Amino acid sequence: MDRIRIVGGHRLNGTIPISGAKNAALPLMISSLLTGETLVLENVPNLADVALLTRILANHGVDVTLEGKRKSAKPATGQTLRINAAEIVDTTAPYDLVSRMRASFWVLGPLLARCGEARVSLPGGCAIGTRPVDLHLMGLEALGADIAIDNGYVVASAKDGLKGAHITFEKVSVGATHNVMMAATMAKGETVMENAAREPEVVDVAECLQKMGARISGAGTDTIRILGVDRLIGARHAVLPDRIETGTYAMAVAATGGSVHLAGAQPRLLEAALDVLRSAGVEISETNDGITVSRNGAGLRPVDVETAPFPGFPTDLQAQLMALMLKADGTSTIAEKIFENRFMHVGELARLGADISLDGDTATVRGTEHLKGAPVMATDLRASVSLVIAALVSEGETMVNRVYHLDRGFERLEEKLTACGADIVRLSG
Ligand code: EPZ
Repeated sequence: MDRIRIVGGHRLNGTIPISGAKNAALPLMISSLLTGETLVLENVPNLADVALLTRILANHGVDVTLEGKRKSAKPATGQTLRINAAEIVDTTAPYDLVSRMRASFWVLGPLLARCGEARVSLPGGCAIGTRPVDLHLMGLEALGADIAIDNGYVVASAKDGLKGAHITFEKVSVGATHNVMMAATMAKGETVMENAAREPEVVDVAECLQKMGARISGAGTDTIRILGVDRLIGARHAVLPDRIETGTYAMAVAATGGSVHLAGAQPRLLEAALDVLRSAGVEISETNDGITVSRNGAGLRPVDVETAPFPGFPTDLQAQLMALMLKADGTSTIAEKIFENRFMHVGELARLGADISLDGDTATVRGTEHLKGAPVMATDLRASVSLVIAALVSEGETMVNRVYHLDRGFERLEEKLTACGADIVRLSG
């Protein structure tokens, strides 16, 4: 199993290209199930989750091929995938695949819309909480699906097709919004989704679905309206930049000091996180093609932050902010309001000398001068990268074990950080 060795104490200076967003690329790939024509996705990050979803889609009969390099492509552009679901040969998404990546549960809505049936394994619990799927099922039932749970599988059918409905989600769910939005594109009549997720990735998927012929309005607000159409067509779409990767590197630079240009980043995708960094004393400037993050000399002020659905501070940056606040001149509080158990990094950060106490959903983080490298264990994707940030500002060597979590969501992490002066290497085997 690969490990990553980091020797802390180096400032970061240079440029980091921001990749396409994992959390948009996955539902965009899934939306290919809605059409028999080819969907071409550009700027897809080369990640373990993308490879796994390729296998899951292949099991339904979908061809996913890598488009060759083009002369016009910019050097930092991610991979281009040509995805074709001409014939769906299997409407079952099996446990061994779905249990490895929750987002694959989102094939349920598109399979139902296209084939009138689907059998998709329940994803099960995961490291960051129980993560139920009741909102997905409620939304699809409202569209007329018959749903039963059998042997750990959701067995859904809509023999006469799905029908538009007025759906109010009692809680904001990114996944349920994606799942129901995709299904509703081919339901008869109008669907209105209230209390829908407003995340930029939902907007990106809606824009791609519009290119495919779907009639969607209101994506990015809490009310999305969809007028069903008979069929969707092929399209070409570029995945938006990854706001979580952007925020992660911004926090890494804020922690080490230095100045890094995050090329291709879009500040409007992470205003809440940038505001928190500014209030901590980090300089953020917006350029023509990205964001420059600098901290030179000045100390870091502590912050009090709660995670919230977009446009609030993202749960996917909570662990990274906690690592940053280990270096603040004072005590910060960070409340996790989205997932009930997203603090696995706390115990690992403590191994580096962090002083963090937990009370319910709130972590109290006391800044310290003395972080010292140690062996640590990656637990989930964002927790793992918080360990990388903490290691960059710890004295001596940190060995991060189980880095396959990082490979799920951070493209070329060591390469990007090394280019900016970090001492970080991957040790294979
Ligand atoms: C998406 O997960 C993201 N995943 C997560 O990113 C992200 O943390 C999360 O949204 C919140 O922003 C992808 O986009 C692939 P939710 P999702 O449904 O859709 C509860 C990462 O690190 N809920 O918005 O699964 C749920 O338990 C990942 O990249 C229900 O109660 O999250 C949670 O408390 C991790 N019933 C809250 O809603 C449901 O049916 C929000 O979850 C669904 C969700």
